[in-house]
Amino acid sequence: MNNEYEIGIVGLGTMGSNFLLNISDHGYRVIGLDKDQLKVEALQKLIPENPNIKATSNLEEFVRNLRQPRAILLLVPSPVVDAVIIEMSSVMSPGDLLIDAGNSHFKKTNQREKSLKEKGIHFFGMGVSGGEEGARNGPSIMPGGDPKAYERIRPILEAISAKVNGEECVSYLGPGSAGHYVKMVHNGIEYGIMQLIAETYHLMKNVLKLSNDECHEVYKNWNKGEFNSYLLEITEKIFLVKDDKTNNRLIDFILDVAKQKGTGMWVCQDAMELQVPIPTIDAAVSMRDLSHYKEERKMAGLYLNGPVVNFKGDRKVFLQQLGNAYYASTIITFAQGMALLSKASFVYDYDLKLKDIARIWRGGCIIRAALLESIMSAFQHTTQLTNLLLDSYLHLEVTNKQTDIRVVVEAACKFGIPLPAFMASLSYYDGYRSEWLPANLIEAQRDYFGAHTFERIDKAGVFHKNWSQE
Ligand code: 6PG
Repeated sequence: MNNEYEIGIVGLGTMGSNFLLNISDHGYRVIGLDKDQLKVEALQKLIPENPNIKATSNLEEFVRNLRQPRAILLLVPSPVVDAVIIEMSSVMSPGDLLIDAGNSHFKKTNQREKSLKEKGIHFFGMGVSGGEEGARNGPSIMPGGDPKAYERIRPILEAISAKVNGEECVSYLGPGSAGHYVKMVHNGIEYGIMQLIAETYHLMKNVLKLSNDECHEVYKNWNKGEFNSYLLEITEKIFLVKDDKTNNRLIDFILDVAKQKGTGMWVCQDAMELQVPIPTIDAAVSMRDLSHYKEERKMAGLYLNGPVVNFKGDRKVFLQQLGNAYYASTIITFAQGMALLSKASFVYDYDLKLKDIARIWRGGCIIRAALLESIMSAFQHTTQLTNLLLDSYLHLEVTNKQTDIRVVVEAACKFGIPLPAFMASLSYYDGYRSEWLPANLIEAQRDYFGAHTFERIDKAGVFHKNWSQE
C-alpha cells in the first residue's frame, strides 16, 4: 500500500533506530532509510513485535511509502548532512518537511533553510537531547523553523518526548535556526556543569584524598531535593563501575583527555560575537582543550612546582561547602546560558520564550535538574527577566551560598588545584554585582596608545587626552 507511513527517518544508527522505535511505540507508522544493509536488517528483525515499522535501503521505496506532505527526519552524522539533504530534496515535493535532528551549527541551518525554501520544502533544525536512552524512551526536543510546518509533526513530537508532571518536553521554539541555537546553548551549559563536577572530583581526589567509594557517597548525598540532576546521578554511579579487564574501578583507567564534537566551542564563539559573557562555559571548553596537552603537561610538571597539599580542615564541613558551591555555580552557569539566549533571541529574531525552554529542559535532556523548576518559575513570574541572578528566589540561593564558593576557590588556590569553572562563576557573580569595574583604566590605556577616545562620567560625548605630554 502506498503513502502509508506517517514519518520517515534517515539514518538508522543507534539514535535513529531508537527514535524510530519510540515513534512506533506511540502508534505511528514509521519507515527508516539507511544505505547500510546491516542496519536495515537489524530493524527488519524487529518488525514481528513492531508492525508499525518498516526499514529499507531504497530511497525510492522510502519516499513512495510516506504520507504527503511528507515529513522526513534526518539523524545522520554532521559531515554528511549536506549530501543527504541534496539527495532527499531531489525526491521531495513542495510542502514537504525535512528535519535535521543532529547537532548542526545554527548558521548552517539558516543556509539550509534558505536553499530548501527555494524549492518550497520546509526545513526544521531540531535539537534532540538525552542520548540513546532519551531517543528511545523520551528525549527533550527543541524544534525551530516555519511555525505552520510544525503542525505536521507536533502530535508525534509531543507523543514521543519526555514528560514532566504530564507536560511534554517539547515546544516550538521559534523561526529559522532557533531550535539548533537553543540546543547549542544547552550543550554549553552541559559543558559548564560537567566541568564544575569534574573540579569537585579533583578536590575530593587530590585534596581530601577520597576513595572512589567515598566520592560515590558524596555525589549520592548531594543528588537530593533541589540539588537533584541527571549529571550528578550518572556521576554518582560512575564511581562504582568496575573495569572488565582489571576488576578495579574503571574511572581510574580512563585517560584524562576530554574530547568534544564542537558544540561547546560554537557557544563560546557566538557568545563572543554577541558580546555576552559566559565565562564558566569558556572555562569548560578551555579545560577540555588543556586536557589534550597530556604529554606537555607531564613534562611541565617536572619543572613547574606548586604548593604542598596538606588539608587540615574538617572534611565533612568542607564537603558540605563544596556541595553548596557547586549548586550556586550551577545557577550562575544557567544564568550565563539564559542571558546568551536572551540576546540571541533579540539579535536573530527568534522570539524565544525562556520559560518554555526551561520547561522542556526539565526532562529527557542531559542538563535536566530539579533546579529547572525554579528557573521556569523565575521566567514565569518575570518574562523580561534580564538575568536569572536577579530572580527573587535564585538570587538568595546564590548570595547565601557565595561564601562557600569563596572557601572552595581559596582552598584550590592554596593547594594549587585548577578550578577555573568555579573561579569564573564567582567572578561573573562579583563582576555582575559591581556597579564599578576597572574598565576606566582600560579606556585610559586605549586612549594613551591608540587615541581611541573615552567617555566621561560627568559630561556627555567622547574625549581624547594627549597623555604622553603630561
Ligand atoms: C545531548 C548531548 C549530545 C552531545 C554529547 C556529546 O544533549 O544528548 O548534548 O547531543 O552530542 O553530549 O557532546 P561532546 O562530544 O561535544 O561532548
